[in-house]
Amino acid sequence: MSQLAGIKACVFDAYGTLFDFNSAVARCADIPEAKRAVLGSIWRDKQIQYTLLRSLQHRYADFEQVTAEALDYALESTGLADAGHRTQLLDLYRTVSAYPEVPAMLKALKAAGLATAILSNGTSAMLKAAIDHAEIGAELDHVLSVEAVGVFKPAPEVYQLAVDRLSLPRELICFISSNGWDAYGAAAFGFQVAWCNRTGQPAERLPGQPIIVLKTLSSLAGHLVSG
Ligand code: LAC
Repeated sequence: MSQLAGIKACVFDAYGTLFDFNSAVARCADIPEAKRAVLGSIWRDKQIQYTLLRSLQHRYADFEQVTAEALDYALESTGLADAGHRTQLLDLYRTVSAYPEVPAMLKALKAAGLATAILSNGTSAMLKAAIDHAEIGAELDHVLSVEAVGVFKPAPEVYQLAVDRLSLPRELICFISSNGWDAYGAAAFGFQVAWCNRTGQPAERLPGQPIIVLKTLSSLAGHLVSG
């Protein structure tokens, strides 16, 4: 089995990897259950699409704005446009749930002497709210937002933020994402990558190659070998 070698720090994507973005829609009792999955899926797809398009256009707007605009599109396309849903869903997005294995996994990494960080498209304020809600702040050494560079993943400038803030060569950093395009982008940048492929997506046809593929984050610590 492939292993990650010589890792000194683990850098995590936030939404989809540590935090379950579907938990916002799932907790919105006002949205009919039959429409929740499609709404959540359009919202997420549009949110990512808008980050990519804005990056190409050199028209950065922060992730809070992009998330709200993607929600407006998703609500309209599912016939749910309503100011009440909008406010409620954006509030719920601020306190998305962490996946159940996350607190113990972070504690195991810290116990093994590794540095830990989040590197996310999210704003610092959004990330702080989610981290506080999940009570995982004590296990995170750094919380890095793309706000600092004004462009979204997978721009190399974003991944470079982690190299600069952690003061580590890229090849000693394990980057972990559930988003295939992010995992491949980070691997192309030169991180050692663990793709947490929670939903069994096919391999991306993009530059870069994750070293390991996991179903959840529970087994991550076991793949990290010192040296
Ligand atoms: C993030 C998105 C891409 O947290 O999930 O950066």
